[in-house]
This record gives sequence, C-alpha cells and structure tokens, in this order.
Amino acid sequence: NKYILIMAGGVGSRFWPKSRNHFPKQFIDILGMGKSLLQLTYERFLKICPNEQIYILTNTSYASLVACQLPNVLAENILLEPSRNNTAPCIAYAAYKIGEKNPDANIVVTPSDHLILKEDVFLDKIQQALSFSEKNDALLTLGISPTRPDTGYGYIKYQVAGSGHQDIKKVDAFMEKPALAKAKEYLASGDYAWNAGIFIWSVNSLKRAFKKYAPEIAFLFESGSVFYNTDAETKFITEKYPLSPNISIDYAILEKAGNVYTIPADIGWSDLGTWASLHVVGEKDENSNMVNLDKVYLQETTNCVIHLSKDKAAVIRGLDNYIVVDDGEVLLIYPKSEEQEIKKVAEQMINNH
Ligand code: GDD
Ligand code: MG
Repeated sequence: NKYILIMAGGVGSRFWPKSRNHFPKQFIDILGMGKSLLQLTYERFLKICPNEQIYILTNTSYASLVACQLPNVLAENILLEPSRNNTAPCIAYAAYKIGEKNPDANIVVTPSDHLILKEDVFLDKIQQALSFSEKNDALLTLGISPTRPDTGYGYIKYQVAGSGHQDIKKVDAFMEKPALAKAKEYLASGDYAWNAGIFIWSVNSLKRAFKKYAPEIAFLFESGSVFYNTDAETKFITEKYPLSPNISIDYAILEKAGNVYTIPADIGWSDLGTWASLHVVGEKDENSNMVNLDKVYLQETTNCVIHLSKDKAAVIRGLDNYIVVDDGEVLLIYPKSEEQEIKKVAEQMINNH
C-alpha cells in the first residue's frame, strides 16, 4: 500500500530562460544525462514501488509533456490540475482520491526537479520513513545538512535525542523560506536542517492534518469523495479545484503541525534551484566552465555556466563567473553572483510578452 506522488506542476522561474512556462525545469535534461529530471525521479522510485502506484501531479497544460516523457505511467495516474494553486491542493487531491481506493495507503510526496547522487542511501531512508509512518501518526520529511543561509528553503529545528527510533527525529519547529538574517542565525546555530521537500505520511495522518490546519482544503477535496475514480471526477476537479486556497504544503501544514518528524539524510541532494547550484554539481572543464555543447570556443573564460540551444556555435572571451544561456528565443548573460534576480527578470519578461 505504498504510493509515490511526483509533483511536476511548478514553473521553475529561477532557471529562466531555459525553464519556461511552457517547458519548465522538471522536463529539461538540465544535467545533460539524456533524461529529464522528471524521468530521473520516476526511475529512482520505480526501484522501490510498482509502476501502478506511481502518480504524477501536474498542470493540465503539461499533460502531453508528461505522457510523452513517461509513456509507462498509467494514464489514470496522471492527475491534472486546471489552475496553479501551489502544492497543498494538489497533494490533498491525490490523498483524498487514493484514500477512497485504499484508506490505508502510505504515501511519499516528492518534487520532480531534484538531484540525488546517493540513490541507495536515499531509497533506504525512504523505506525507513515508510515503515515509521505506517505505524505512527507522523508527518515525515527528509532533512539535509545546510551549507549556506539560503532563503529559498524550509528550515527544520529538530530534537537530537531520539523518537524511540534511532534515525528519526522529532521536529520542534519548521520555518518556510525565512528572511536572510534568520537563515544566517539558523545556519550558525547548527541545530537546523533544510527541508528537502520530500514528505512521507499515511493518507490518514495527512487527512487529519488537512482537517486541522487547512480545513478549507480538507472540506473541498473531501466533498469530491463520491466522484473520485468515476467518470464525474474530471468535472468535479475542473469546477472545484480552482476554488482551493493557493498555498504550499510547507505553509499550510508543516509550519503548523505538532507531529512533524525528520530523517537527517546525507543523500547527495541538490534542488538544482539555480544555475550556480547546477555549476557546483555539473561536469566542468579545466577552467571550471560548465558548457553543454562542443562548438563553444572559450578564451580567458573561467567559472561560467554556458548553456546554448542545439547546434549553436559560439566564441566567448574574457568572461568570469557569468551565466550565458540561449534557448533559441531568449539570450541571457548575467553575473552568477546576482542570479537570485533572474526570477524577477523572468517574471517581468513573462508578464510583458
Ligand atoms: N502538481 C503541482 N502543482 N506541482 C507543483 C505546483 C503545483 O501547483 N507548484 C509547484 N509544484 C512542484 C514543483 O514542480 C516542484 O517539483 C515541487 O512541486 C516543489 O515546488 P517548488 O516551487 O520548487 O518549491 P520550493 O523549491 O520553492 O520549496 C520547496 O522545496 C524546498 C526544497 O527544494 C519547499 O518544500 C521548501 O521547504 C524546501 O526546502
Ligand atoms: Mg524547488
């Protein structure tokens, strides 16, 4: 009764212009491995879960992209959202739907756009988490040792003493995307982990949490119970889904709940959130440039990320610590140190064009 929910509905604006509204990061072969991040995520979970129990949660506009990249996923396991309401409602929809079929379901919720280098360790932690959530009313997340005061993550303060279970720690507080000063404080204290955004919980615990901390969402998706897994499901979702509050699961539940646990996990994790984080893990030449094509001639160029569209030739001289991305339609040349600004630039560009 183990289910995997892969969330693949985000826009990934920090990777603009490569990641676009119509082709976001999770669908891109951003590591040059011949597979998209979504395909890598799916294949990773296929090692511990039967195909029939893997679900993809995404926006209606990505339905054909998902079907094309994951031809083996059952059509009825691709849950389509008619509007962008962030992660809490998509998780609630899946939980209530799966709960109708299997009230004892035990669920892993995962992003579709992360890199995990130590796959064996990762899968082992997931199995441990699943056996804990099966027996306890617990909301579990994987905790990553923080390396910088990144304001794009959730921070988890956990009790070092056990929960009766060696590797699983009780969480005292969860802070989603803190301000920089707070993030620095958390990092310095040494008592915090980053939330990897990978959650493990039973349908029962999750429904209970929605009822208590996000009753509007619980009420909405509970009211669909009679329609799930029938012909009337699509109509219900099309009409009602957009009425849900627009909120991430982190703010809706994790920050509020008292039964959050974490498994500290050294799994070679990166959320590949930005070009610079990709540069850290990607393959680089002797001058520390990460280049995706052969016909790029670099002179006196160092520490750059250069990502061009297919068949492009380029000559670049005298750049240090820059991002150069050309997706065919848009060319971006931006200092790596200012890359957090790219998200804003992308949003402006998307609004103006
Ligand atoms: N189906 C669906 N629908 N998926 C969505 C939606 C949606 O409306 N919005 C986002 N997603 C998907 C994204 O594609 C991604 O795979 C995942 O859900 C997480 O969303 P992000 O938008 O990337 O969240 P985040 O990175 O800002 O923050 C989360 O992840 C961090 C770790 O990478 C939080 O959980 C943080 O606490 C965490 O530290
Ligand atoms: Mg993310």
